[in-house]
Amino acid sequence: MRETHGHEADRTAVRRVPADSYLRRSRAGGCLALLLVITITTGAAPGSQPLGPQAAAPQEPITPVPPSPPADALKLGLGERLFADPRLSGDGSRACTTCHDIRTNGADGHRRDKALDGSELALNTSTVFNAALSFRLNWEGNFRTFEAEAEAMLDNRRILGTSVEEILEKLRSDPETAHQFEEAYGHLPDRTSLLDAIATYEQSLLTPGSRFDRWLGGDAAALSAEELNGYQLFKSLGCISCHQGVNVGGNLFERHGIFHPLASPKPEILRVPSLRNVATTPPYFHDGSAPTLQEAVRQMGYAQLDKTLSDQQVDSIIAFLNTLTGTYRGSPVVAAPP
Ligand code: HEC
Ligand code: HEC
Repeated sequence: MRETHGHEADRTAVRRVPADSYLRRSRAGGCLALLLVITITTGAAPGSQPLGPQAAAPQEPITPVPPSPPADALKLGLGERLFADPRLSGDGSRACTTCHDIRTNGADGHRRDKALDGSELALNTSTVFNAALSFRLNWEGNFRTFEAEAEAMLDNRRILGTSVEEILEKLRSDPETAHQFEEAYGHLPDRTSLLDAIATYEQSLLTPGSRFDRWLGGDAAALSAEELNGYQLFKSLGCISCHQGVNVGGNLFERHGIFHPLASPKPEILRVPSLRNVATTPPYFHDGSAPTLQEAVRQMGYAQLDKTLSDQQVDSIIAFLNTLTGTYRGSPVVAAPP
């Protein structure tokens, strides 16, 4: 899979935001600013750069979600159908869409979804929206590519309870599906094309067009004073030190419960979750223990920053977080029924 697939994997890797890129950039920026101050106070040294308007322009630590990357329409369509195809589960009872509902928030509204045997899974279901923009996948960041992630979901006895071989057998024996693979890939379904079709679809699940991104793009009227105030608070309190970059998260590993316990203690180290579309993805945290955004924001301030936020601060931050809801195929992302 690696050789024939290196191209796809590379494409993914390149687009992902490198960890702590913002922090590094801001540190470099700080050094530059300090240098300039020294230069100015000691009288301009010969050959020093003047502080032009470019350097003074505000550089936001969050960047807009891009539109979906160009993709082969046949592979994309095939991936979309496979994502909803119950033949991808051992007993035919579920598909990726059972837990990742693309018509709502790319996940569902449950605290934790059920395993095939009816018991509860250990972790809350993550949204697949914008997952392509995170540097690793899953709460623990244990996968780097959609192909590896999909294979693990399929093989997992509690999640889909099947195997790639078993699925390929079912797909090859269906003339219509076999034909669709031949059209898209030039041959019958095999491991690489199956995983590539799913990954191609997942790469497309981006949600651009949020009000915050419109503001980043220069539309000053896209945010109200209250929402902007919330964004300033998000930065000044230090939320931004972990939730930053294109996904407002998804580019760092961090401990949770740094100052005070938060949610279940295990796993201790998590990929900082993305806050894109966060208003639509209750409940929150890896164990789904925070039912509302109010609760999650309040707990974050206390556990990660040792700050007891006032009701007003919580409301302002939530006003900002609400502006991070984007659109998928032109419609706003919405919360799933609980
Ligand atoms: C029974 C519910 C369930 C089904 C069915 C399911 N998933 Fe998931 N999915 C989860 C859970 C739970 C997580 C979080 C797992 C973790 O963090 O270890 C997750 C995480 C993911 C992520 C990571 C998102 C991110 O931001 O890191 C991707 C990608 C994903 N699933 C793709 C798929 C695909 C593709 C399928 C179908 C082949 C699938 N899932 C089927 C429950 C499910
Ligand atoms: C030191 C890093 C760090 C800081 C600072 C931080 N967070 Fe978090 N945030 C995390 C981690 C890690 C998680 C995942 C916790 C879990 O699931 O148990 C998280 C989870 C969240 C969630 C839930 C996301 C979801 O999908 O479940 C929200 C909302 C959130 N943070 C908002 C904030 C706000 C608002 C602030 C500032 C008041 C903040 N965070 C400060 C690291 C941080």
